Amino acid sequence: MIILGIESSCDETGLALYDSERGLLAHTLHSQIAVHRIYGGVVPELASRDHIRFIVPLVQQVMKEAEVASSQINAISYTKGPGLIGALLVGATFAKSLAFAWGIPAIGIHHMEGHLLAAFLDAKKPNFPFLALLVSGGHTQIIKTNEIGAYELLGETIDDAAGEAFDKTAKLLGLPYPGGPILAQIAERGTPNRFHFPRPMLDRPGLDFSFSGLKTHALHTINQLELNEQDKADVAWAFQDAVVDTLVKKCARAITQTGITELVIAGGVGANKILRQRMSAFAAQNNVNVFYPPLEFCTDNGAMIAYAGYERFKRGKFDQDTAIDVLPRWELDFYL
Ligand code: KG4
Ligand code: ZN
Repeated sequence: MIILGIESSCDETGLALYDSERGLLAHTLHSQIAVHRIYGGVVPELASRDHIRFIVPLVQQVMKEAEVASSQINAISYTKGPGLIGALLVGATFAKSLAFAWGIPAIGIHHMEGHLLAAFLDAKKPNFPFLALLVSGGHTQIIKTNEIGAYELLGETIDDAAGEAFDKTAKLLGLPYPGGPILAQIAERGTPNRFHFPRPMLDRPGLDFSFSGLKTHALHTINQLELNEQDKADVAWAFQDAVVDTLVKKCARAITQTGITELVIAGGVGANKILRQRMSAFAAQNNVNVFYPPLEFCTDNGAMIAYAGYERFKRGKFDQDTAIDVLPRWELDFYL
């Protein structure tokens, strides 16, 4: 069974072909960094237009690379939400029209389910039930995954997502879009412990997060500096240290609370090197099995949508009509 997966929820057009027998056949990603950089962030209308421009050639590219003809494709999965409405509509309209033309089902996928299942694209796969830390630009959640499709929200951010905090703090440091990975890069040159950032909500019980205060703390710190290159790296180091420490400690708490020792880290911030290092160190000391999707499938991509599509298709869960509806806001735990 071969599924074509299409991701277009934000600023990347991702296409992939997943085969239930052979695994991932081909995938490709078009990033819109060059389009949005001069504006310092994603401009939704430009994102939609760019998806329109690239979606057809990218489908042709993966089909050619995988040597797959349209007649071999069994279903098309696409990101139904959450995300930017225009960007989602491009992917949904294209996917549902093509599926209709080819006489095959279309499958609307929750973007965060895609992230969560990206760990299954690796050879080493988690066992159910597992905990998942979903850390992206729009989400910071700890989810208990009982089985595919059965997700229980244990905790989430009450304000900014971890990725959003990375991006906003990067902006305060004068770093270009996309801020998060660039902040992480300069933090490598930072002086450890020159600054200490607070660990939000660690002193309170529960599994919720709050990251907006870190950005304010960064602003106060920056305002007292001339902000030369070393200052920037030192602030970046302290900020990243606080976010990572908070994420690791909340995961530790979730593990103690549930007794579940399988942990998946997913979403764009899951690509962060220090997060991976500290989480792995914690896991090694506490007999926890931690799983990371391959790096390129941590941030947005088509492969995770193709894989999630395969899991849904197998269960007979696909769109029942040709109506095109997307959900810019959509809770994962109400997804069943
Ligand atoms: O999952 P993703 O690609 O898109 C969303 O669904 O939001 O995540 C993007 C987020 C951005 O906020 C970006 O700054 C952050 O992930 N990110 C990182 C790193 N790579 C991406 N944050 C910290 N360190 C990284 N290496
Ligand atoms: Zn994402």
